[in-house]
Amino acid sequence: MMMADLSTVTVLCVVGARPNFIKIAPVIEALRAEPDPLRTVLVHTGQHYDEEMADSFFRQLRIAEPEIDLGVGSGTHAAQTAEIMFRFEPVLEKVNPAAVLVVGDVNSTIACALVAAKKSIRVIHVEAGLRSYDRSMPEEVNRVLTDQISDLLFTTEKSAEQNLCREGIDKERIFFVGNVMIDTLRKHLENALPVDTTLLRNDVDPAKLLENGKGYGVVTLHRPSNVDNPRVLGRLLDVLAQVSHQLPLVFPVHPRTEARIRDGRFDFMKSQTVVCLPPLGYLEMLGLMANARLVLTDSGGIQEETTALGVPCVTMRENTERPVTETEGTNTVVGSDARRIRSVTEDILATGGKAGRVPELWDGKAATRIKEVVVRWLSEERAGLGAHRR
Ligand code: UD1
Repeated sequence: MMMADLSTVTVLCVVGARPNFIKIAPVIEALRAEPDPLRTVLVHTGQHYDEEMADSFFRQLRIAEPEIDLGVGSGTHAAQTAEIMFRFEPVLEKVNPAAVLVVGDVNSTIACALVAAKKSIRVIHVEAGLRSYDRSMPEEVNRVLTDQISDLLFTTEKSAEQNLCREGIDKERIFFVGNVMIDTLRKHLENALPVDTTLLRNDVDPAKLLENGKGYGVVTLHRPSNVDNPRVLGRLLDVLAQVSHQLPLVFPVHPRTEARIRDGRFDFMKSQTVVCLPPLGYLEMLGLMANARLVLTDSGGIQEETTALGVPCVTMRENTERPVTETEGTNTVVGSDARRIRSVTEDILATGGKAGRVPELWDGKAATRIKEVVVRWLSEERAGLGAHRR
């Protein structure tokens, strides 16, 4: 097929929260690269806004300064989503892009996709089709709705296509391309940085704790279902304290979790076997995970990153929208039951955990595949063929 001239076409890319930054970096790089460079405009909604949660990621991942920053900040789900929509609409009118590209499942993803779809602007969703089948998770609602209004859907694992087809999405619009988060991981792994332990949030001696030859585990915790209910949070903090007596833990504490620990007056931060840190930069977190004996988390992305790194992961959630990390990778989903968390952790410490392998197409080239499909698709749209029109 003859390629249409795409030199005047703009793809507007959206980011808002921490995991988005990691996903968009390779996508923008690929879209802007030769051959067939596309014009891109980057909009940052400002959902995450401070040095630790946002700015350091732009710097370390060398993401170009966003052309537009909506500066929405925090709020309830409704207020945050509405504010993003309200501020995004005039941007679309000004930029008039051929397509809006959104990544992941955060409030910024659905807010911008919805504004674009209502203006009949094409929507591209990177990391489509993941399903936990748990609608109490705000991200699940964002995923289902974003996919329903997307024109082009890029998936990271085979299960995602089945989920989308079950929801009536035309197979022709779905492309299994691999995982852009792993593109970023592979690109930056050799530049990973040591953690600056002078930024401690609690009163421990990290050197004494971490240099005893035993190794360490990493903890992350931020899901509302785990941290917003003091009873659940208390139970998880207790079990983490128990685990830390066997294996010292390093815990970069998410701002939501730090606030809940403070509100609940938990004395977890007094633990002498847990190193509590502020949220880490990408390169520091990567270095920390790569050298860990295990990771305990409720994050989506970390389940994938540990699978790519071959590090055992214990997921403190009832389900995962990323089943390939369990069936092929190093992940074990354990829920929030203290006994199960302890027994799986003990098993990993005794045996080294399951071996796991890196899933299909998690090879560092997902963004290049996305670019190829987008160029072909935009050419068809330009030529009026519109094969993928809804
Ligand atoms: C959001 C995403 C979640 C993602 C997570 C990664 C949604 C629905 N959730 O959840 O999918 O896994 O980001 O972090 O979009 N805060 C700061 N500094 C910041 C940003 C936030 O201190 O730069 C504080 C906020 O004031 C708020 C808390 O952190 O109190 C939570 O932020 P919020 O954006 O509500 O959601 P997350 O829990 O981070």
